[in-house]
Amino acid sequence: MIQRARSSVASTSGKAMGKAVNQPVEKMPIDLLGGLSPRQFMAEYWQRKPLLVRQAIPGFVPSVSRDELFTLAAREDVESRCVVSERAKGQAWTLRRGPFGKRSLPSVRQPGWSLLVQGVDTLHDEVAALKQALNFIPSARLDDVMISYATEGGGVGPHFDSYDVFLLQAQGQRRWRIGPQRDLRLREDLPLKILSHFKPEVEWVLEPGDLLYLPPRYAHDGIAIGECMTWSMGFRAPRQDELAHELLARLADRAAEELPPTIYQDAGQVATTQPAKMPANLQSFARSAVEALLHQPRRLDQCLGEYLTEPKPQVWFDAPASAQRLKPSDGVRLDRRSQMLYDRSHIYLNGESWRAAGEDARWMRRLADARALSAAELSQTSDAVRHLLSDWLMAGWLQRVPRATSLTQR
Ligand code: SIN
Ligand code: CO
Repeated sequence: MIQRARSSVASTSGKAMGKAVNQPVEKMPIDLLGGLSPRQFMAEYWQRKPLLVRQAIPGFVPSVSRDELFTLAAREDVESRCVVSERAKGQAWTLRRGPFGKRSLPSVRQPGWSLLVQGVDTLHDEVAALKQALNFIPSARLDDVMISYATEGGGVGPHFDSYDVFLLQAQGQRRWRIGPQRDLRLREDLPLKILSHFKPEVEWVLEPGDLLYLPPRYAHDGIAIGECMTWSMGFRAPRQDELAHELLARLADRAAEELPPTIYQDAGQVATTQPAKMPANLQSFARSAVEALLHQPRRLDQCLGEYLTEPKPQVWFDAPASAQRLKPSDGVRLDRRSQMLYDRSHIYLNGESWRAAGEDARWMRRLADARALSAAELSQTSDAVRHLLSDWLMAGWLQRVPRATSLTQR
């Protein structure tokens, strides 16, 4: 079933899953890896080499139409870009950032342009549901789902990403040319990151329902064949210097809570003839304060968990219109915008953290992994857990699922 191709790029085809034409994605038995087990995919492909899966979602019909995407691109709180490429005219490219009012996008009859809308998973349940099909990858790595629309010949040009990305062909056809580019130099004359010397090795035309996985820095160029739409699920790979910056800033904010307000003392300082010389004791006093702050692995883990679950600036939660109480027959599920993680001592939700241990921690971890708890599960939780869940319900981070609604079909 797995065909090795040139440059060790593999291609597989989706298992027969019956006719699923016109079914919404949440009702489909998704097997995005086309017969590979998640374990095989992670061992052989993840971060290593591309994988093409033909008919990863047979009969896929995207829930977000072209017009809906244009409507999203008009919103202030949605990040969007429009790229116009004139490959025929000396490879000129222009980039504009949204929001795009009704008349500010080119006509759909004009070839060679593309609209890219970020974070559609926070706006659409069905797009968010697709992320669950990739839940064999730690969710701390998942960034967002971007949807692009392009007219004939449109695309963002040959480039590479620092992300792992799964590109799902949602509508129409797109020709992807890819290659393990060594020369990563970019053109300097353009507002977009476009490779100066792109050398593709393989070329595929993706049809609706086909999926292409690309590891970070793998060069690619997707050119629309007629009108098309692509969903790309990006997995962020944080940079160590950025993490250090973020964690140190968060630790610094806690310095007053973490350290005693000890004042430097220098009884014993001898009279000096070099008044400008920094006292060595003052230097070590300062250093030991910073070292004490840093020497707390759990505190650092906590800062990381809070940082990674922080909602993006454009994400807002809608508190329920009226007071909500959890009924005994209710289950709960996380709102599609909620980001929940855990480690050995904490749970993290939307930038906040709680210490958790024992049974309570077990239920909270289950909620974080499955993004839902059934009524039967909820009935076994402690008052403290139910109390916290009620608070989260009121914050809009969680929703009640009355018993009649199936928790498995999300
Ligand atoms: C696109 O959808 O046009 C671009 C996606 C990507 O290259 O990552
Ligand atoms: Co890309």
